Formats: sequence, C-alpha cells, structure tokens
Amino acid sequence: MTVTRRLVLATLGRLSAVGVASYALGGCESFLDKIRRRPTRRDIATLATNDPMVETYKAAVAAMKALPSSDPRAWQRQADIHFNFCPHGNWFFLPWHRAYLLYFEQICRQLTGNMDFALPYWNWTCNRTIPSIFLGDSTNPLFHPGRVASPPAALSDETVGPGVINGILNETNFLLFASGQATVQRPSQPPVYGPLEGTPHNTVHGFVQGDMRTYQSPRDPIFWTHHNMIDRIWSDWNNVRGNANTNDPSWVGYEFTANFVDANGSAVNIKAGITPLLPLLSYQYDDSAITACGGRRLTRAEVDAKALRRFLEEGFAVKIRPLRVFRAAEAMDVPVGGAASKSLRATQPALTAALEGETRALVRVSGVKQPPTGDFFVRVFIGLPGASIDTPTTDPHYAGSFAFFMDQDAHPEGTMANAAFLVDATSTLRRLRMLDLIRSGQELTIQLVAVRMTDQPLRQTTLPVGSLELQLVQSDIAARPSFAEAPGTQ
Ligand code: C2O
Repeated sequence: MTVTRRLVLATLGRLSAVGVASYALGGCESFLDKIRRRPTRRDIATLATNDPMVETYKAAVAAMKALPSSDPRAWQRQADIHFNFCPHGNWFFLPWHRAYLLYFEQICRQLTGNMDFALPYWNWTCNRTIPSIFLGDSTNPLFHPGRVASPPAALSDETVGPGVINGILNETNFLLFASGQATVQRPSQPPVYGPLEGTPHNTVHGFVQGDMRTYQSPRDPIFWTHHNMIDRIWSDWNNVRGNANTNDPSWVGYEFTANFVDANGSAVNIKAGITPLLPLLSYQYDDSAITACGGRRLTRAEVDAKALRRFLEEGFAVKIRPLRVFRAAEAMDVPVGGAASKSLRATQPALTAALEGETRALVRVSGVKQPPTGDFFVRVFIGLPGASIDTPTTDPHYAGSFAFFMDQDAHPEGTMANAAFLVDATSTLRRLRMLDLIRSGQELTIQLVAVRMTDQPLRQTTLPVGSLELQLVQSDIAARPSFAEAPGTQ
C-alpha cells in the first residue's frame, strides 16, 4: 500500500468520526476513487475562451440569473448570502469564503450537469488586468456593468506582486496569516485585518470597484474567481507549505448555521474546522506555481501526501505572545494623496534585542475610519519622516500596505468603520538595522501615506486613524493532535 493510500484510509477513518464524509463525498462510488478524481480548479490564464470550464461557468451564471428569486440558488440570492453573513476582519474570513465557494461550485455543477466542473481562479499575482472572459457586454454572462478597472488598468506589484504574496506565504503562524480572533462571524468588536485579507484581498475589491467594492460583490462573476485565488493561497499555505491552522475550539468548532444552500437549494450547516479538508476531498488546484509565474509547484502526489500527513497531525496550539508595545500617543488624520508621520518611543536597543528568532514586529494601525468606497489605500514606512506620495516602494523604509473593504449597508451599527490593520514590518526593521538606518537612542517614526486607487472623485479626503503602534510579538506553535482529543472520537 502506498503512503498516500494509507494516509487517505487513515484520514477517512477520522472523517467518519467527525461526520464529514456525508456532505463532502456522498454517492456510492468508492471514497478513494471519488477523491482521486475530484475536479481541478484551474488558472483562468491557462484556459482558452472556449474551454469547457469557461463555458460551464458562463452557462452556470446564466442559469442562476434565470432562476426565479424564490430559488435560493438564484444569482441575487447567492449575493444576498454574502451581504447577510460574510465575516471580514476576523479569522472566520478564510473558512467562510471557502465554504461559500464550495457550495456555489456544487450549484454550478448541478445546474449545468457538468459534474467535472471546478471554479477557475484569477491569479492576479501573475495576471494583473481583468481577465478577458469577464469583458465585453451584457451578452456575456460573465460581464458585469459598473466596474471601473478595465484593461490596461493593472494591479500593482506592491499590493499583489510575488514579493507580497511570498511574504504572506512565509508567515507560519495562523493567527498572523488569518485575520483577528473572534468568537462569532460578525462580532461587535472592531475588525482586525491581517496581511492576506488587508492587502491583496481588499485591494482587488477596491481596484475593480462597482459592486466589487460592496458586500454585494458576488453579483460580479469576477468575485468568485478572486476569492478562489485567496482560497488557493490558503490551500497552498496548508498543503504545499505545510503550515497548520489553529486547533482553538472557538475556531474549529464554530458552525456557519444555515448560511449556505447546497446544490438542491437546501440550507446546510458547516463547521470552520472541516473547511481545511475541502481541497483534499471535493476539489483540487492545478499544478501551476502561484507566485513563480509560469512555473510548476510540487507534483500532485507529493502535495497530497504532505497535506494528508499534515491533517493527521493537525490542529496546532497556535499562539502569539505579546512582548512589547510601542505606542504613538495621539490620533492622526492622513490626507488622501498625502502623508502623516508619528514617532514612537521605541529606542533602538529594545528593538534590536527583540528582533531575533520567532519575533515579529507588527505595525498595528487601529481606530481606522475605514472608507466605504475603497478608492484609496495606505502605504506604511518606518523611519522616513519625509515620506510622501512620491516615495517609491523600493525605498528600504517601506514596510507594506493595506486597503479597505466594507459596506455600511451591511453593518449599519458601524463596527466595520473602526478597523485595525496589521502590517508585518519585521524584515523592514531588520533591513534598516543592517543598513544602520535606525540610530541608537533615537525615536522611531512611522509614516502613513494614503494613495488614490482611481481617478474617480473621492468621497473621503482624509483618513482618521485612532492609534499607531509597533508590536513585538512572539510566534508560538506547539504541535498537538486535536481530533484525537475531540469528545466522541476514539
Ligand atoms: Cu466577503 Cu472578498 O469578500
């Protein structure tokens, strides 16, 4: 018996124990065959415009648009699911959107009869303009009116380039990879956006504009292929890079109750802790490398064996331990199209001592009055008081960027307008220290530069920020099998 086969069988034993097999698999075919032949989600750029995956996607979208609104699989009803339930700025962001895509894909299969259909993904790291299958006019079901971005308008290196995505993939701690901890999908506490959600994810919504900048974004067929790329990044982070998610019961055991409907339109429940298995059971990604554009990643067999082994050991106690917080006292207003600078009382010895090993230096920008329009984004620099809109992101003081995605109509209580963003500044601080650009005894300064994303008139011309901090945190990952200890399993 091969390693993969043994791992699959061992995994299935555990799956029946946690009750996943029924909805992830189903049917009378052998589990192993069904898993082995699960449909492959492909990069749109590798598909001809008449590829069966593209044709099926078009036909499925057209079919959903034609359903009566009494059918929960109807196009607008699917967008309503997002408007009513989508979690943003917390660690349910990744599992919720994965489940959302899974059921959407199953509806597409059902409505078209193409059971091999897998949702294509838009690899915006390698292809920065809106893919041509989405262009044209209303005779194309994948076209959507109201977008602002159209080719040659292109996403920038600083928000979706290979450097940014590799930086995100190199994070090993789930709490820093995913967004902030929460106990419910739409908590009353302010959201905390990690780099994956706050940078490429939010930027692409703001770049496309139109419905894509709102919680009605799934009305635009590009949404599903955008989120499929986010899902691909999470899948690679787990299954290719070998990182584990948290085993915190408040994440693993959290159930999305009657948020989604299945292929027949019946309401379904799914737990966050099951979603890491979906790329191993219900679909898979093609072998293209996501950041080495045009390259290949590990072969399928290597990935599957690695992923399943990881699952068997999965559920890690993932922690971040705060070491020190350096805070800039006052609130600030950042003019859009300009810059603002604050100093922190973080003297160099404390900083260098802490910048070792598993320590991360995070710039935390909190109390941000997130604009509902997503038409600008923010660059973060360290130690460059003269930073301006013209400072290039190749400057050694550049630390990263974040963008906005919120919908006032979906959050009338206003929680999403008071947001926090994390930018990992560890490598920037190390670089500055190496170049001797942080001087001993001097205060450290942090700059925010608000950059316009489009030429459209702005609806918000300053960005109010509540506080700026530099946090030194220790990443702490302890291996501990979680399912073995779950009640009711042996
Ligand atoms: Cu809930 Cu990118 O959307």
